[in-house]
Amino acid sequence: MRLLLTALCMLYGASLFAQNKTISIDTKNSSLVFAVGKNERLYQVYFGRKTAGTDYTKFKTTHEAYIGGGLDDWFEPALRMVHNDGNPSLELHYQSHTSTGNADSIQTDIVLKDPAYPVEVVLHFTAFPNEDVIKAWSTISHNEKKPVVLSQYASALLHFDADQYWLTQFHGDWAKEMNMEESRLTNGIHIIDSKLGTRADFYRAPLFFLSLNQPSTENTGELIAGTLAWTGNFRFAFEIDRLNSLRVLPGINNYASDYTLQPGETFTTPAFIYTYSNAGKGQASRNLHKWARNYAVLDGNQPRLTLLNNWEATEMNFNENILSGLFDQTKQLGVDMFLLDDGWFGNNHPRNGDTAGLGDWQPNKAKLPNGIGHLVQEATAKGVKFGIWLEPEMVNPKSDLYNKHPDWILRLPNRQEHLERNQLVLDLTNPQVQDFVYHIVADLLDENKDIAYIKWDCNRPMTNTYSPYLKQQQSHLYIDYTRGLYKVFERVRAKYPHLPIMLCSGGGGRTDYGALKYFTEFWPSDNTDPLERIFIQWGYSYFFPANTIAAHVTNWGKQSLKFKTDVAMMDKLGYDIKVSDFTAKELQFSQQAIANYKRLSEVIWKGDLYRLVSPYDNQRAVVMYVNDDKTKAVLFNYHLYPRRAEVFYNVTLQGLDPNKQYHVKETNLFPGTQSHNAANDKVYSGAYLMNIGFNPSNGGTPEVLSSHVFEITAE
Ligand code: GLA
Repeated sequence: MRLLLTALCMLYGASLFAQNKTISIDTKNSSLVFAVGKNERLYQVYFGRKTAGTDYTKFKTTHEAYIGGGLDDWFEPALRMVHNDGNPSLELHYQSHTSTGNADSIQTDIVLKDPAYPVEVVLHFTAFPNEDVIKAWSTISHNEKKPVVLSQYASALLHFDADQYWLTQFHGDWAKEMNMEESRLTNGIHIIDSKLGTRADFYRAPLFFLSLNQPSTENTGELIAGTLAWTGNFRFAFEIDRLNSLRVLPGINNYASDYTLQPGETFTTPAFIYTYSNAGKGQASRNLHKWARNYAVLDGNQPRLTLLNNWEATEMNFNENILSGLFDQTKQLGVDMFLLDDGWFGNNHPRNGDTAGLGDWQPNKAKLPNGIGHLVQEATAKGVKFGIWLEPEMVNPKSDLYNKHPDWILRLPNRQEHLERNQLVLDLTNPQVQDFVYHIVADLLDENKDIAYIKWDCNRPMTNTYSPYLKQQQSHLYIDYTRGLYKVFERVRAKYPHLPIMLCSGGGGRTDYGALKYFTEFWPSDNTDPLERIFIQWGYSYFFPANTIAAHVTNWGKQSLKFKTDVAMMDKLGYDIKVSDFTAKELQFSQQAIANYKRLSEVIWKGDLYRLVSPYDNQRAVVMYVNDDKTKAVLFNYHLYPRRAEVFYNVTLQGLDPNKQYHVKETNLFPGTQSHNAANDKVYSGAYLMNIGFNPSNGGTPEVLSSHVFEITAE
């Protein structure tokens, strides 16, 4: 078995390299090393566990760092360019490199040039040593006489050498997002991609684990976890070549997207973010969570607002009176904010269903005669914050906007409009449309300074893929749409840098670090049945920290309110339920649960996540979070459908301090019930809990769809 990632090519021998010089991208535990060949091309000579004192220039390798298409390579290139004279090849020679930064993040830029054409490619890497994360992207520019055409443009290229490669990918559909699937890569090329444009992540999420030699587990195995920071079509290509080497090419999907690059213009690819772990998927997730909170998610280390949403309770049937009652319920429940969902706008085409009104962002006079300002004031007077739903990139044909600006809509000439959810996508490649979308958000916020939150929705993928604005350059549409969207996000954030905004796309259609830079959280799925949510939230937990994963208690599912609440508390808790239907005990339970969550959320949001028992392998799921100084942990235990004869044993905890004494306390109990857990209210050492553990299910006959929450506190 080959042990290290680039082992095949590490036959120690005479140097192939021109200069005994290497460029090393180092994190705490990993190194990615490049060297310049005698032919002046740049090679990846190593990627894997950091190994001090190694002379990498003695390694033999043919792994070119960023392969230009059309030359001597036989497999998938990183970059394919047709020059202005029609020459479809690219050769890249090393020119120079620089490194700048500090102990927390170091950026290395490696400049490559084509010896025959004025083309420059810069490979950029930011290493985050403490989190063991690397961010890699490239910039492509030229000074040829006429434009060049790019038809492939990977963000990065990584080479691996192992006996076997195991890929874990996540697929789904509406209300069934993030199903995990692991399979061995076989010869040939394997693509995970999206062609959905606006709602790019609906069927496949832009992320993966790649395990070397054998499938990795939660705590064992050598792997990378990778994801692309891009809110549009993505493509990950995994190709095994004739020597059983694997190349991984992440980037924007080049499907229908030849890009014409003008002289002097720069094409910047989105960042590929990855982390290396030789201790399984759990470590990779913890690395990404830390990195995300510190660098990638808006206000990643700041508190989140708990909320009551009205979507499940009222859908679009509400008025000022009903909302006023819901403000009272928000207060009574004890959450921070009321979130007004879809249905508040449109006059000539009132938004009373999903067939009309999108695009006309004026408050509906029949439902809200006193406008949004009145609602904000009333909520504020009642002691709750006010948030509001928007879907600003879309239009219903039944709207004033559609009639006024037909040229602002993506639609194919000579074809019937293809509607989904009765709506069409606005043409965000057009700066005028960007301006319109920006003003929907900015004007609403300017007029109502106390709006505390926005839910930014996007409820259809892109078809009718034709931009009236781009005219002859339709192959820029997918890319320029996403860039246009980012311009709008940038402008909103320049004006409102810290307003919490939820990223939503009918559920998990937008779940990527390209957007999360501008958002505080995302809506993982419209499916809020807690049994389903255990799996969906489990899936997202591999790549996103708990404070970004919105989880609401709703009427979906027939489980107890406690089970629903315990599942939502695992991530960012909210409610979307008729509080007025609660019994007195249910209300009391919920108020107490919210108070518990306020006490525990710091650990849940910022702690290290340990997935202890997987619902994929068991009829039980157990996760725990441990804070940085290991003084507090929270453990969630969920029973799925155990058989009567099934016995649940002790669970050994992780991440505690072996030398500390911990008090174990079951919390979130329903009023009138008590903990029967043998460990409840007892004190154990961290060593005991991590070696012998305790049984959160407490033995006996396991009850289906039941749950337990434990607060574990150092004495
Ligand atoms: C999408 C969202 C829901 C809700 C509706 C409103 O489906 O995911 O949460 O906001 O739109 O139309």
